[in-house]
Amino acid sequence: MLELRDVQVIFDGFRALDGVDLTVPEGELRFLIGPNGAGKTTLIDVITGLTRPAAGSVRFGGADLVGRKEHEIVRMGVGRTFQTSVVFEALTVIENLDLAATFRKPLWSLTRRRDGVSEAVEEALARTGLEELAERSAGVLSHGQRQWLEIGMLLAQRPKLLLLDEPVAGMSKDERERTGELLTEIADDHTVIVVEHDMDFLRRHASVVTVLHEGKVLVEGSVDEVSADPRVQEVYLGRRAGDAVGNRP
Ligand SMILES: Nc1ncnc2c1ncn2[C@@H]1O[C@H](COP(=O)(O)OP(=O)(O)O)[C@@H](O)[C@H]1O
Ligand SMILES: [Mg+2]
Repeated sequence: MLELRDVQVIFDGFRALDGVDLTVPEGELRFLIGPNGAGKTTLIDVITGLTRPAAGSVRFGGADLVGRKEHEIVRMGVGRTFQTSVVFEALTVIENLDLAATFRKPLWSLTRRRDGVSEAVEEALARTGLEELAERSAGVLSHGQRQWLEIGMLLAQRPKLLLLDEPVAGMSKDERERTGELLTEIADDHTVIVVEHDMDFLRRHASVVTVLHEGKVLVEGSVDEVSADPRVQEVYLGRRAGDAVGNRP
């Protein structure tokens, strides 16, 4: 599904990604962790065409993504969330979903008034559990509901691969739990890459974890393998003391 080989990204001489190899098979829910500045967001930027790598290849379903425009990559079935929100607060939940769904459509179809709601929007609404809030303005949503709406907006575009950058940041415990379940459900029929650092969350919802550090893949494996790895412990020690990897009781 997704294959990165020796990907390098250099910003003013600084190697944000320094030879990243990453393979994510179809239908996998892959977690990406690593300290601040490790290159996690840059990796997503490279896959989605926002940042062009200085070297290396990015293949998706056999096609080379390097050099393609962002919208072209979206049309190929790659969807992402940003760390900042893209929800229109003045629009309702369903209008936001509808807008997202039309994003992948050819321009001519936008000029025609469609009656009712598309199947993709219905599905996104049901998946994210936002049916009851469909007609509410997005501005009144809780932080968690808003994050689900953003995920719904991606789903409405019918992507094959979803890239989610810290989707549970700032969520309550219950919201995190629901999001974990949602991610697992989505991975039933999508490939999903999630950036998240919270080890409790990973232990509950992750199977395969890739650890990024200073622009390189440090370790890859199960949550237990990764958190027991001395290299990972060293990278996290003193950085995020509260939830340092490997701090299992
Ligand atoms: N557009 C940019 N210009 C210059 N440096 C950048 C840019 N984007 C990211 N960086 C740097 O690249 C490194 C990796 O950033 P990032 O991918 O955002 O890390 P993470 O998401 O893992 O916290 C950081 O040191 C960051 O300052
Ligand atoms: Mg980031």
